[in-house]
Amino acid sequence: MRYADLDWGVLWQQAQDDAGWEARQAAAWDGRAASFAARHKRSSFERQCLDLLTPQPNWSVLDVGSGPGTLAIPLAAQVRQVTCLDFSTAMLAQVRKRAAEENRHNVHTVCASWTDDWEALGLVPHDLVVAARSLSVRDILAALKRLSTYGRQKRVVVDRVGAGPSDPAAFAAVGRQPRQGPDYIYTLNALYQLGYHATLAYVYGDGERSYNSLEEACASYSWMLPDLNKQEEMRLLAYLRSIATRQDDGSLLLRPQHRPTWAFISW
Ligand SMILES: C[S@@+](CC[C@H](N)C(=O)[O-])C[C@H]1O[C@@H](n2cnc3c(N)ncnc32)[C@H](O)[C@@H]1O
Repeated sequence: MRYADLDWGVLWQQAQDDAGWEARQAAAWDGRAASFAARHKRSSFERQCLDLLTPQPNWSVLDVGSGPGTLAIPLAAQVRQVTCLDFSTAMLAQVRKRAAEENRHNVHTVCASWTDDWEALGLVPHDLVVAARSLSVRDILAALKRLSTYGRQKRVVVDRVGAGPSDPAAFAAVGRQPRQGPDYIYTLNALYQLGYHATLAYVYGDGERSYNSLEEACASYSWMLPDLNKQEEMRLLAYLRSIATRQDDGSLLLRPQHRPTWAFISW
């Protein structure tokens, strides 16, 4: 086998198929928008990414799969203009809500998918393009080419390392195999295949998670463990109870062993 014969676009799709990957639809993200916005606002993930993004004050930024504006809103305080692209209308509503609350008038939203015709939508290249935790694509090479076209000065992808945010102990507790899918090493090599020599850093997510109740925690975990049957749900609840402590304000703090790691890839 020779390295030059490897096609990372094909390997990416094979790894998706092996993991039984199915793209989540916009409606699924809509249903998660409010809780995602609350959980990811002012996180250590945000702080670490901002330290690495280092945009110039006169730059424009395109945030692809912006979600509720986890990076876009704090970036808006540092740059000239930010465009948030996402196919979830509820996520973009969260962006506009937070932009209004924080008096950021330089944030625009575009409702579109990775695969829509961005040119037809009037989208122009920006100085910095970032796609954080949003590489939910079948054609990785096309997505990376697109980011390369739309980012004039700097292009950034934040991608999963291994299981990413999925807690392997939760999978073990319910008796399922973790479904890993392709992680950052495919993305890095796909960029190499396209002729880009990217820079790599790592970002660490918060291991701890706070919830109002065990039921809310269970609903949140079922995003990574869909279609739980009654027995699996009981096992998941037992696992969550085993890592939970009650806080003074009545909320539950979960302390899983797993701490998500993200690859910050720039080129
Ligand atoms: C895990 S969230 C990440 C949000 C934000 N970038 C962050 O790091 O917090 C993934 C986002 O990608 C969006 N997304 C997923 N697939 C997409 C697609 N095919 N086209 C556009 N957006 C997509 C979802 O709606 C969601 O808002």
